[in-house]
Amino acid sequence: MIGRLHNLISILDLTRQDIDLILEHSAKMEQVAIKKSKDLEGKIMACLFFEPSTRTRLSFESAMFRLGGSVLGFADVAVSSAGGKGETLADTIRTVERYADVIVIRHNLDGSARVAAEFSKIPVINAGSGSEEHPTQALLDLYSIKKLKGKIDGISISLCGDLKYGRTVHSLGMALSHYDVTVKLVAPPPLRMKPAVIAEMKEAGLRVTEVDTLEEGLKDVDVVYMTRIQKERFPDVREYDALKGKFRLGLKEVGLMRDDAIILHPLPRVDEIDPEVDSTPQAKYFEQVHSGVVTRMAILKLILG
Ligand code: CP
Repeated sequence: MIGRLHNLISILDLTRQDIDLILEHSAKMEQVAIKKSKDLEGKIMACLFFEPSTRTRLSFESAMFRLGGSVLGFADVAVSSAGGKGETLADTIRTVERYADVIVIRHNLDGSARVAAEFSKIPVINAGSGSEEHPTQALLDLYSIKKLKGKIDGISISLCGDLKYGRTVHSLGMALSHYDVTVKLVAPPPLRMKPAVIAEMKEAGLRVTEVDTLEEGLKDVDVVYMTRIQKERFPDVREYDALKGKFRLGLKEVGLMRDDAIILHPLPRVDEIDPEVDSTPQAKYFEQVHSGVVTRMAILKLILG
């Protein structure tokens, strides 16, 4: 990338230099987010959300408004011609590219954002593709770690929960491969991390271990990254029922963590973090939500600015 970012489909499209540049720009956006700017005045962002979202869509919209740009799109596939009339993704993209300057797409299928980019003449940003990837979430997660811990190199992190279907941990795991970090993968055996992501991390020289219990995952790390078990991705709901509630972070479990460790979560949560944890000093997941705005401002500026 370095220079002008075009599409952002996979975290693997970015080098360490690219990621560091986005994180630097995100920090600069903290002030711009407060004062607002007209840097992207006249630019239009199309949000095509074929799957539900609160944070990703609204933070992209907030980012665009704070930069003076405009937003259009749909938040529910049922109100689009793709849902109601069976229009193909290719035709949807070839239509929307005539209305906007950048497309932000979330879709339930792996590979969907890459397909959209192949048909689009304007930049495409992946806002979550199936259980595959969520690269802008990984960037905001890295930004949050850097902001809250002061660095990324040298930290230890546990990725906890649904490492099989969770797209955020796939992108974050691969993004961490650019840094000198120690990673614990913490999941019930049926939800272990995808082998391709483990291979990526090990090839990059990361120290990676796998553990089955949350208690083991919480000890001796700087960052605990919790995730929701992704009910909607299970082919058989009985498999989900057998696993739900397995990992629950309550006050007792927080007591196993280092005092200066932080808890992150991409959200939404279901029951994996008790609400009573929210008031502990370790709970940083709502601060992490704010990182979504500044990081996405930086990404939009690098693409459209
Ligand atoms: N973290 C995240 O992707 O949240 P939403 O599904 O609400 O966008």
